[in-house]
Amino acid sequence: MKVKVCVGSSCALLGSMSILDQLDDLKDIISEDSESYNDEELEIEAIKCLGYCKETDANVAPVVVIDGEPMYNATSQTVMEKIVNKIRK
Ligand code: FES
Repeated sequence: MKVKVCVGSSCALLGSMSILDQLDDLKDIISEDSESYNDEELEIEAIKCLGYCKETDANVAPVVVIDGEPMYNATSQTVMEKIVNKIRK
């Protein structure tokens, strides 16, 4: 699963760095618990600006893209939930 976290200024200001930290922790948890989770590698990438904040006047930051699907106003909780739901056995 590919997870891109925007660390551009708008998204970083609204907490994307802490989402990134928590994703690293989640990656460790998943890799150590093969009984609960599918054997799927979590590829986490920090990207400078994904461009979504410039496409609209709406407040979309922080933006996280999971397998090509953008999540706007992402929080650690919504991102973790989405990932865990996808890879839980
Ligand atoms: S800074 Fe995150 S989408 Fe632009």
